[in-house]
Amino acid sequence: MTAAPAIPKGLEGVVAAETEMSFIDGQKGILEYVGIPIGELSANSNFEEVVFLLWNKRLPTKNELESFTRELRNNYDIPGALLKRIFELPKDAQPMHVLRTMISLLALYDPNPNANDVASAREKALRILASAPVIVANFDRHRRGEAPIHPDDSLGFAANFLYMLNGERPTPTMERAFDVCMILHADHGLNNSTFTARVIISTLSDVYSALTGAVGSLRGPLHGGANEGVMEMLGKIPSLDAVESFVMDKLAKKDRIMGFGHRVYKTTDPRATDLQKLAKQLAADTGNTPLYEKSTKIEEIMEREVGAKGIHPNVDFYSATTYHCIGLKLDLFTPMFALSRISGWSGHMLEQLADNRLYRPTVRYVGPHNQPYTPIDQR
Ligand SMILES: CC(C)(COP(=O)(O)OP(=O)(O)OC[C@H]1O[C@@H](n2cnc3c(N)ncnc32)[C@H](O)[C@@H]1OP(=O)(O)O)[C@@H](O)C(=O)NCCC(=O)NCCS
Repeated sequence: MTAAPAIPKGLEGVVAAETEMSFIDGQKGILEYVGIPIGELSANSNFEEVVFLLWNKRLPTKNELESFTRELRNNYDIPGALLKRIFELPKDAQPMHVLRTMISLLALYDPNPNANDVASAREKALRILASAPVIVANFDRHRRGEAPIHPDDSLGFAANFLYMLNGERPTPTMERAFDVCMILHADHGLNNSTFTARVIISTLSDVYSALTGAVGSLRGPLHGGANEGVMEMLGKIPSLDAVESFVMDKLAKKDRIMGFGHRVYKTTDPRATDLQKLAKQLAADTGNTPLYEKSTKIEEIMEREVGAKGIHPNVDFYSATTYHCIGLKLDLFTPMFALSRISGWSGHMLEQLADNRLYRPTVRYVGPHNQPYTPIDQR
């Protein structure tokens, strides 16, 4: 009998879909959106333009960008009944659970939630993308005892979120930093949450279910939850001098250092390179240089100890310092990832719907056969 072929654990290397959105070369550290290097986009573009690019596979003209931005802003708000519900939630709820629940609830306020022809799905995706910041910011206000706030549709996606969170318009530096974070997190191949969204929509379920599932996937500590893990780790290291023993102890125990390693990148994640620059600048501006220095020290030790194994900083490592400097609470880090990634999940859903076939892999049964059924009182 020939041996059954090995199953690539975690489906590593399995090509499960085609996309025109993002290209990753994990050996060379390249990430492109529709062929444009991520560094070009983070330096020159804004989040709205990147979403247009991902959904239309080309850059917009000036008029197209204005009209897309307007369409997004017209959808910023959420139904009043939903806003009220946010202010009835337990204040100690975790924001990722809140976001997941509220995206699911949005379906109940849609008169036609199941329409998933490409045009309807795009409309729903745009509405969810535009209104997710209202959910996250208002939940944070609720738990702080602040009054509800409505979005300001004279502001861009990044500025509007920071405005709702803090009740005042952000400085241009903070707005730009947050906008760059949104650009860098928008899409990334067939990562776990994107795969989740594609799998769910492939049943011809609905956009709300697919995005709810994707948020659930993203919150795991091996995926988007790692940025919170990085910040927790930085908080546990009392000083720069303590970094060496902290990292070495963890590695000796075979514990993972959050923010390092990647299924695809075997060199530095190009998003981490951009975020490192941002983190350095913001840390200097906000008096958080010691935090940044601890991070670079961790990177130095990890490079020395496990760099040869292809373990380098990933997107989460420097996004932790960046978000901290922007003034975001720890448990808002993963929701920030989600606010941006809704665009990538949605783009993938639209691609899936345009050429759908139900995802239904098989599983190899490795249990026993022909077992007797033993009556319960004889077991
Ligand atoms: C992202 C991640 C899940 C990818 O995992 P993967 O492709 O399944 O890789 P594996 O879990 O098989 O790890 C391969 C080896 O690298 C080691 N390794 C991977 N990430 C590591 C980390 N962050 N710290 C220390 N060692 C790590 C593993 O212990 C393993 O070593 P071994 O071969 O001696 O057993 C993994 O790198 C990780 O857990 N990183 C920390 C969490 C994180 O930052 N996630 C965000 C991803 S964007």
